[in-house]
Amino acid sequence: MNSRAESTSQGSGPQNLAARHRSRHAADVEDLLATALNDAASRAWAGGTARTPRLGVDVVDTDILARQLSSRIGAEFTHRIFTDTEIVDCRGMVPKFATRWAVKEAVSKAIGTGFRDGLTPKAIEVLTAPDGSIRVAPSRGQRWPLDASTWRWTVSAAHEGRVAVAVVIALS
Ligand SMILES: CC(C)(COP(=O)(O)OP(=O)(O)OC[C@H]1O[C@@H](n2cnc3c(N)ncnc32)[C@H](O)[C@@H]1OP(=O)(O)O)[C@@H](O)C(=O)NCCC(=O)NCCS
Repeated sequence: MNSRAESTSQGSGPQNLAARHRSRHAADVEDLLATALNDAASRAWAGGTARTPRLGVDVVDTDILARQLSSRIGAEFTHRIFTDTEIVDCRGMVPKFATRWAVKEAVSKAIGTGFRDGLTPKAIEVLTAPDGSIRVAPSRGQRWPLDASTWRWTVSAAHEGRVAVAVVIALS
C-alpha cells in the first residue's frame, strides 16, 4: 500500500470518510459482480439447473478388434455392434471403428448400467460432426436407461498404435 492510500484509509476528516464510503461501495459492487459472475459460470456449466456430472472411459485394442471384424462372423459382429451410419462413416478403418466401440462402452459406464437394462452397443450411435468431433445419440427407435439421452454429453476419443481410447462426460 502506498503512503497516499494509507493516509486515505486511516484518516478521519470528512474527505477521508467520503473516500472510505466510496471504497466500501466499490467493494460492495465488486462482491456483487463476483457473485453474479460465479452464478453465470455455474449456470453455463450446469445448463441452468443443478446437474450431476458422470464420467465414462474405455480402451480398445485395435488388433483384437481387427481380428473380430475380419473373422468368419465379422459381418454379423459388425452389424450387432454398429449402426449402418457408423459402418458407412468408418469405411473399413479399424482405428475409427475402435474409437466408436470405446465411446459406446464409455457411454454405458457413464450411464452406470454397462450393456444391461436394455442398453445395447447398437442403441448408442456415435456420429462424426463436420469438424471431426464426436457426438452420441440414441440410435433410431432406441431408448437409453434412466432417460440418459436427455443428459448433456461431451465425448473425446483418440487412437495411437494398437490403443483406442474414449472418455465421456455427461451432466444428468
Ligand atoms: C461395463 C462393461 C461394458 C465394461 O466391459 P469391459 O470392456 O469388458 O471391461 P473394461 O475393462 O472396459 O472395464 C472394466 C471396468 O469397468 C468398470 N465398470 C464395470 N461395470 C460398470 C458399470 N456398470 N458402470 C460403470 N463402470 C463399470 C469397472 O471399473 C471395471 O473394472 P474392474 O472389473 O476392475 O472393476 C461390461 O461390464 C458390461 O456391461 N457387460 C454387460 C454384459 C456384456 O458383456 N455385454 C456384451 C454385449 S456386446
